[in-house]
Amino acid sequence: MRPRIAPSILSADFSRLGEEIREVEAGGADLIHLDIMDGHFVPNLTFGPPVVRWLARHTALPLDAHLMVTEPDALVPGLVEAGVVRIAIHAETCPHLQRSLAGIRDRGASPGLALNPATPLVFAEEAAPWIDFVLVMSVNPGFGGQRFIAGSLPRIERLHRSLGSQGVEIAVDGGITPRTAPGLAAAGVTTFIAGSAVFAAPDRARAIQEIREAALQGGRT
Ligand code: DX5
Ligand code: ZN
Repeated sequence: MRPRIAPSILSADFSRLGEEIREVEAGGADLIHLDIMDGHFVPNLTFGPPVVRWLARHTALPLDAHLMVTEPDALVPGLVEAGVVRIAIHAETCPHLQRSLAGIRDRGASPGLALNPATPLVFAEEAAPWIDFVLVMSVNPGFGGQRFIAGSLPRIERLHRSLGSQGVEIAVDGGITPRTAPGLAAAGVTTFIAGSAVFAAPDRARAIQEIREAALQGGRT
């Protein structure tokens, strides 16, 4: 399977998001990753469904929302109506995780489970019947441009061993570059979320291509 690259617009120029999205679509991106932050679960604020609705007009790519909020259930209907097709929610914020994940599927979107760097992987194993993908955080969420946490790699290897045969996709988010991508691909990652490595680069198409080539070198995909 071809590795998929999902640029995170958190590192884009927010004053011209439409152009930024069009540029990464033309540059070969597979998904657009939308970081939704509420200033409670993470110490940062971004945007919500009204902004996403406008952004959706600028791309035909699937919109992939990553909800870093304490009340994810409340946002799901508005995001789906705005055009989001994949939604990851954090295990750490959801006391009724099965209900929250099933609610995403009921709305017609693809559910994913995001795990912070020290959150036990067993959450994903238990939630496997209700998810299409796991979003493994390889930084503590909230900001772009952080350093990849090395311990994320053995976590992904373990997750791949336990979930790979169940058809659950593994995505990784945080500190993704052409240097970190090969080992992650070898460990079983198929979707690579990259913010600063794409949007801080002068040539976004080239940055996407370099991450993809690095992932292909890693092998398993
Ligand atoms: C972090 C976000 C990421 C972020 C990644 O909280 O979930 O999607 O944009 O940024 P980089 O690729 O710069 O680590
Ligand atoms: Zn993210």
